[in-house]
Amino acid sequence: MSLLRLGVLVSGRGSNLQAIIDAGKKGEIPAEVVVVISDQPDAFALERARANNIPAIYIGFQDFSNKEKYEEKVAAVLKQYMVEIVCLAGYMRVLGVNMLEAFPNRIMNIHPALLPAFPGLHAQARAWEHGVRFSGCTVHFVDEEVDTGPIILQAVVPVLAEDTAETLAARILEQEHKIYPAAIRLFAQNRLRIQGRKVYIKN
Ligand code: GAR
Repeated sequence: MSLLRLGVLVSGRGSNLQAIIDAGKKGEIPAEVVVVISDQPDAFALERARANNIPAIYIGFQDFSNKEKYEEKVAAVLKQYMVEIVCLAGYMRVLGVNMLEAFPNRIMNIHPALLPAFPGLHAQARAWEHGVRFSGCTVHFVDEEVDTGPIILQAVVPVLAEDTAETLAARILEQEHKIYPAAIRLFAQNRLRIQGRKVYIKN
């Protein structure tokens, strides 16, 4: 079976990228990362890609006249590498119409909270400050709003009395590294069917 070609968009440290690369290398997912694109020149994720001989490309938002032009470029690079699915892994930009139309129902994101709770930035700290007993993470398909698309997988973690926002974030991150590769595996196996807001998983 041929491997699903993944393009990963990043902005920062890239630990989810690393989990996806590792799962591919170990043969746990029938997929390979063929290109990594960052909107930040010094993202550590780019170094991780290079260390794994994966093309690591910086595309600076400020080098384009607007979001449409910027996304046209990002989509063109992804197409050049014949990417079949785009994974946002700590990519801190809201996608616009050009990207969504270039990869319809083929863009996933990981979010460090149990959506629809705590969408947007600093989700772990906001969950901790709110005093929830459980939080977690969500892999979902991306739509035109922020963190609202159909949910593929979630993992739950407890919030402990002695937690800080940082220890909670670390507990959530551990689960992120499991459910992102798991969601990609389901997609690669053609087992995800989107119907309205819902994602059905075929046996
Ligand atoms: C992860 O916790 C991811 O869920 C979060 O950024 C972190 C990136 O870490 N994403 C968002 O908050 C998106 N709204 P990583 O670069 O080590 O994968």
